[in-house]
Amino acid sequence: MNASTMLGLAPALGWNSWNTFTWDINEQLIREVADTFISEGYKDAGYEYIVIDDCWSLKERDADGRLVVDPVKFPGGMKALADYIHAKGLKFGMYSCAGTHTCAGYPGSFEHEFQDARQFAEWEIDYLKYDYCFKPRNIPGELLYKRMSLALKNSGRDILFSACNWGEDNVPRWIRSSGAHMYRSTPDIQDRWDSIKTLAHSQLDQECYTGVFCHNDMDMLVVGMYGGSNDEFIGRIGGCTDTEYKTHFSLWSLMGSPLMIGCDIRKTSPAAKEILQNKDLIAINQDPEGRGAYRIKPEPQWFHTDEVFILVKALAGGDLAIGFFNMSETRREVSLLFWDLGLPYASGYSLSLYDCWSHQELGLHKERFSPVVEAHDCLVLRAKLVD
Ligand code: GAL
Repeated sequence: MNASTMLGLAPALGWNSWNTFTWDINEQLIREVADTFISEGYKDAGYEYIVIDDCWSLKERDADGRLVVDPVKFPGGMKALADYIHAKGLKFGMYSCAGTHTCAGYPGSFEHEFQDARQFAEWEIDYLKYDYCFKPRNIPGELLYKRMSLALKNSGRDILFSACNWGEDNVPRWIRSSGAHMYRSTPDIQDRWDSIKTLAHSQLDQECYTGVFCHNDMDMLVVGMYGGSNDEFIGRIGGCTDTEYKTHFSLWSLMGSPLMIGCDIRKTSPAAKEILQNKDLIAINQDPEGRGAYRIKPEPQWFHTDEVFILVKALAGGDLAIGFFNMSETRREVSLLFWDLGLPYASGYSLSLYDCWSHQELGLHKERFSPVVEAHDCLVLRAKLVD
């Protein structure tokens, strides 16, 4: 297989400018983020893409219909920035929109798809996020994502295509066949617990809509933002606790979402860095078989609420990743019966459990496992069958 046919095999790992910086982006920031990928271990942990979101261009195209890079924000231009990022062994992403304008009112790629794809390839980008604002109502979004996908795949460069239509218009039904490598299934995330919880709940039992080459994108991470967005909607005050960020990262990892960091990695906390660089969780997210995670309702069933659930992801080679989630306001026992994993007692197998957050072995267990999980917290295990 050559390189291009492998694009999008695993969920993308990277950083995106939107959550923290929104419109306030510039060349220096992006270079410093690339430097931080190397100096703070993000590249070693597997993060690869650095993506500039909305607000990078001028408000008008030039006389030839070309997009124009904002010369104040990016005086060196996009090709030079791409070179800088590539020299560090990283990949560079940009943003456009299926409509006439981006959500922030800059030119979109509607009716300019092939021209823009060529332009992006000339700048040597590796990733395009493609939004959904200002889409003429009578044009099906499905067609516009097919158009841009075709344009990118014929641009002469491998460009990962990240569709972003917020889960609208039955997108999971048609996005895989359009050629996109990932697609947003949710509205925009906010840096608060309620938002994490709502987005995660909306994706329970949707595991058939993710997989290799077209991953379910639950939106960029808010881990480590602590209310530090310059945008009021995303969240300027409060943010979340480290426990909540840990649960957020565990959910996105298990559910196979791309992991696109949204905080200012140049100055986030050691706790957030530890969460973002948890290699056991990243390995689960990047598992080569790319299976979605199914939900098990914990025992006893009369006790069940949607706020407490177990997610299971079948991994290549026969291990299972198992997450115990307590989204409720009180400490709960979250009991898993191994029968529900397809493992009957009579098989003779035990599960050898490894805790992916404490990085400790938890020994051999038979028939059931019943951890107590604090409010808003989780436990993520890697389980191996042992006879
Ligand atoms: C939204 C999108 C966000 C961000 C923003 C830029 O539609 O969901 O992730 O890209 O537009 O204006």
